[in-house]
Amino acid sequence: MTRILFATSEARPLVKTGGLADVSGALPAALCEIGEDCRLLLPGYHGVLGGVEGARELHRFDDLPHPVRLLEADMPDSGVALHILDAPHYYLREGGPYQDADGADHPDNAERFGLLSRVAALLASPRSPLAWRPEVLHCNDWQTGLAPAWLKFAGGGARSLMTVHNLAFQGIFPADWVARLGLPPESFAVEGLEYYGNLSFLKAGLHYADALSTVSPSYAEEIQSEPLGMGLQGLLARRRADLAGIVNGIDTAYWNPRCDPYLPCSYSVRGLSGKKRCKAALQKDLNLEADPAAPLLGMVSRLTHQKGVDLVLEIADRLVRDGAQLAILGAGEAGLEAACRALAQRHAGRAATVIGYDEGLAHRIEAGADLFLMPSRFEPCGLNQMYSQRYGTPPLVHATGGLRDTVVDATPENLAADTATGFVFEAATAAALQATVQRALALYGDAAAWKRLQLAGMRRDFSWEHSAREYRALYRRMLAED
Ligand code: ADP
Ligand code: GLC
Repeated sequence: MTRILFATSEARPLVKTGGLADVSGALPAALCEIGEDCRLLLPGYHGVLGGVEGARELHRFDDLPHPVRLLEADMPDSGVALHILDAPHYYLREGGPYQDADGADHPDNAERFGLLSRVAALLASPRSPLAWRPEVLHCNDWQTGLAPAWLKFAGGGARSLMTVHNLAFQGIFPADWVARLGLPPESFAVEGLEYYGNLSFLKAGLHYADALSTVSPSYAEEIQSEPLGMGLQGLLARRRADLAGIVNGIDTAYWNPRCDPYLPCSYSVRGLSGKKRCKAALQKDLNLEADPAAPLLGMVSRLTHQKGVDLVLEIADRLVRDGAQLAILGAGEAGLEAACRALAQRHAGRAATVIGYDEGLAHRIEAGADLFLMPSRFEPCGLNQMYSQRYGTPPLVHATGGLRDTVVDATPENLAADTATGFVFEAATAAALQATVQRALALYGDAAAWKRLQLAGMRRDFSWEHSAREYRALYRRMLAED
């Protein structure tokens, strides 16, 4: 049994802005289920303190400018042991974990996540105030990127793993934060945590961690060169031997069309009639025409350049003219939000957009749509394309990162072999997207072939157990290197 401290800035169901929360909510539980001792460390945001019961104080830090405590509780649902970094001055704020209510980054994010990283490192070191000592410190994204660095500066302790969920977010701050956070001045170097004159939390993690991983094999390859290396390709290519790519799983209990409380009807591989009723209910909810024959294209996404929403918007008028319906749920960049709203106004009854974050509607779109669009320009792993396969809604994806690794294109050969589960296109352009939607809609016209595609996706096993075993093997390799 390996003892693992899983340090993260968000975890479902307590706090979520994206896929990192789904992973942090599910992977530690899956590791515990296969017999590992994995505990979580999370900042004490409102949602965290309010979402757990009976939190107990474990430790009080006396040497910091503001009150900081460590609490212990259990994760709701999974019961995984949770350490909460309770620091009201830093984490009890209006707005989200990283931004205020107006969408501006909290001005002291370096300090907020510097503290999270520093405490993660302390708990993984021989100086930890707690009796429980992890053998592996598993850090996730830039918010915990300084932890492997602090652990090295403190003379070591647990082995550290830095997992990249998205290289587009690197935690870059002006150089004066090096002194303000008390980092050793000599660490501010190319062979350290300096990044073009600034401090980069993620680079620190990638430089100082004992092992690196990312969330799909394809993305692990892609980030070793431009453009997807986003400035860190040199470091990642040099550390290629230490870099693993492990595809995420999905929470198959929470995303299960047989018993999803968010859906008006249930269904399964044994009978898809409930899915037709989910489509009718979704059309009604979103004020789309009640037309069972119209192919309904769904999308649930952060509205950012990464996700290729603009490509969908470029072809949307034509899609609607050709008889398709569109249902888009998302929030993000103001320009993309406005363009989505305008689309719905131009095509009342044929295109619907909901701007905001809505967990229930996300499930209902996964279930009620016929085809799920995910034309991301890059996608480290992506979860929605796996949810949609499980919900019998073939995904249509750009061939990148985890999308390439988890969707099997409906080529004639794959269709004949019954392995096809969706549609994959190579170039991130509106023309390629348009051509592939056309290809998908042609197959949609062949009811028997379409049903085979749906069933092949629904039968795939995307459960966490497989990924958890790969992480376990990775932890063991890291410990064997000692
Ligand atoms: P990313 O983390 O890059 O946003 P993922 O596909 O890994 O992409 O995960 C996104 C997660 O967030 C999924 O669980 C998805 O259903 C959810 N999600 C994204 N946008 C919304 C939204 N507007 N409402 C509800 N859920 C959303
Ligand atoms: C990031 C990536 C997404 C991935 C998620 C969880 O948000 O953008 O592709 O699925 O992290 O690893």
